[in-house]
Order: sequence, then structure tokens, then C-alpha cells
Amino acid sequence: MSTSRFNPLGPAHHSSPDSPGEHANNPTARVAIFFATKEGHTKEIAERIMRDLRKDGFDVDLHDVRLPLAFDLSLYSAAVLAASVHQGNHEKEMVQFVRGHRSELEKMPTAFISVSLSEVGAERKEATPAEHEQFVADVSKMLDTFFKQTEWHPTYVKPVAGALSYSQYNFFIRYIMKQIARKQGAGTDTSRDYDYTNWIELDKFVEDLVGEIRRAALPASACAKAG
Ligand SMILES: Cc1cc2nc3c(=O)[nH]c(=O)nc-3n(C[C@H](O)[C@H](O)[C@H](O)COP(=O)(O)O)c2cc1C
Repeated sequence: MSTSRFNPLGPAHHSSPDSPGEHANNPTARVAIFFATKEGHTKEIAERIMRDLRKDGFDVDLHDVRLPLAFDLSLYSAAVLAASVHQGNHEKEMVQFVRGHRSELEKMPTAFISVSLSEVGAERKEATPAEHEQFVADVSKMLDTFFKQTEWHPTYVKPVAGALSYSQYNFFIRYIMKQIARKQGAGTDTSRDYDYTNWIELDKFVEDLVGEIRRAALPASACAKAG
């Protein structure tokens, strides 16, 4: 990510050079993506969203919320925030970030991506109706906790099935995660990692989001013309 101080609009100037898209020259079409991750999967999700948005001609900045924020959030048209869940909670760095920037976030369309293993269970086709209900309730509870902790309500919320990154766990965590995975109906072969994210579904979510961001960024007169 460049932080050139000569860009009067700030750091975002990353429209895709090979497919600039119709809004590439629109200085208002700028999106910030913030992520918090422990084992790295949520970063991959954030990067995928970044690539999708750039293909659509948006200027995008990607930022790990563990690092100090070097740009002014009020210069963006929209923001996407993504955080994974550990022990029932979204990353505390994301909670702190949202608390610190809530007033700016409330002024733009926002999407929150919640990455968890509970969502793996919720999306599992073989789950019984009772299991499905339980997993959905678990995801909902973790989201409610996050919204209470931050006192923030994003415009859009998308729970995303995460990963089992056994190769990154220590012996103890690997053992615990294997037991949890068994309950969720997820993979228990600890010699490999599992990626449960439905990437096509994520792309579709971003596509819908693009429409919303454009609508929000257009002046009222253009919206009236667009009907
Ligand atoms: C120690 C540990 C605790 C976890 N706790 C939960 C949990 O309480 N609920 C849940 O749904 N997923 C839980 N998960 C699964 C993670 O949310 C999932 O692996 C996610 O993809 C991690 O994303 P990250 O790589 O971006 O950190 C846990 C994973 C680990 C390793």
C-alpha cells in the first residue's frame, strides 16, 4: 500500500491497471478494507474483497487494524471490516478499532464480515435441523456480542465460513480444535488444513455491495435519473 503524501486524496489509488472499470476516475469511489486475523485466513478474505472491488474500478486500501491507521477514514465512500472469531469473540483489535472510529463509520455504507467455524456448521448441508439452528444461533450470538461491545451497527453483515489451519496450531490447540471440528462436522485430519470459505458466494456478496456503494456515492440528482 502506497502512502504517497503527494496524493491529495490520500493513499487510495489502487484501481486495477488492467481493468479500470467505469468508476476508476471517480475520486469518490474509494473503499477502505479493515481486517483482524489470528491465523491469516481473514486476511485472505480481505484480499479477495480488495481484488473484487479493484476489478470493479474502485480505489481500495487494505489495512490490518493491529497497525496504526495512517489515513483519514472520512475520505472514503465505504468501508468493509472483516474479523475472525476466537473463543466466542471477534478479535479485540477490531473491537477497539470500531470503538475508535465509530463516528466516521456511521457516515458511510459499511459491511462487516464475521469469519468463524460456527458458520462452517451453519452452512453444512448434512447438519440436522436442530444442529443447524444451534450453529446459526451461535453465529448470531457472537455478532450480537460484537455489536454490543462496539455499539456499532454496520449496514450489511455477512457471516463467512472460516478455515481450520491445523498447520499453524500448537499441539494443545490442535487437539482442542480437532474436538471442536468433530462437533461442527468439520475436518479432523490434523496433517492438513481445511478452507471452508465459499469464495463464489463471497464474490457475489461483494457484487451486491458494489451496487449499494455506487448508489450511496452518487449525487441525489444522478439517483433520480437512474430511477
Ligand atoms: C483457538 C481457537 C479458538 C476458536 N474459537 C472459535 C469460536 O469460539 N467460535 C467459532 O465459531 N470459531 C472459532 N474458531 C475458528 C476460527 O474462527 C476459524 O479458524 C477462522 O477461520 C480463523 O480465522 P483467522 O485465520 O483469520 O484467524 C477458533 C479457532 C481457534 C484456533
